[in-house]
Amino acid sequence: MIEMAVLEIRLYGDNVLRECAPPIEKVTDAERQLAQDMLETMYAYRGVGLAAPQVGFSKRIIVIDIEPDDDSHKPTILINPIILSQDGEVVLEEGCLSFPGIREEVKRPAEVVVEGLDETGRIVKIEEEGLMARALQHEIEHLDGILFIDHFSRLKRKLLKNQLNKIKQKEGQNGKGGRGDFK
Ligand code: NI
Repeated sequence: MIEMAVLEIRLYGDNVLRECAPPIEKVTDAERQLAQDMLETMYAYRGVGLAAPQVGFSKRIIVIDIEPDDDSHKPTILINPIILSQDGEVVLEEGCLSFPGIREEVKRPAEVVVEGLDETGRIVKIEEEGLMARALQHEIEHLDGILFIDHFSRLKRKLLKNQLNKIKQKEGQNGKGGRGDFK
């Protein structure tokens, strides 16, 4: 059993969130450990998805669990995920752990086919719709430095300006030890 740790969530304003993460060449214990820590962090913060840059690692790893309260439901770990195809269109409300307090409607394709590696390094291909398709697209975008606010209209971003600035300020304080470890 791997020991798991809750990592610090990087907030909007941290440069790592805007980086394009390089692909992982080999899935090793380091990637497996990071994925487990990401899951632990995601559950601790009550999120349904998390990408490695959100915990400070510019690596192409995402974790998702859209049913965190169902112990029989297996979480999804994907390494180097790519979207093979997208179809349809749907508007759904989204949040992001790097943007505490912000929830907004975002229009995205309704269905996706995604390919990636699981934690053993095996290729997996998944077809999803609904909340899972939504989470996959949101998390995969994080790996290219794309954030959900990039989908907002200019007006919406303007309306959220103060809230976004507050999150940035909080992020600035984290680096100086302004926030204690979340454990
Ligand atoms: Ni996010």
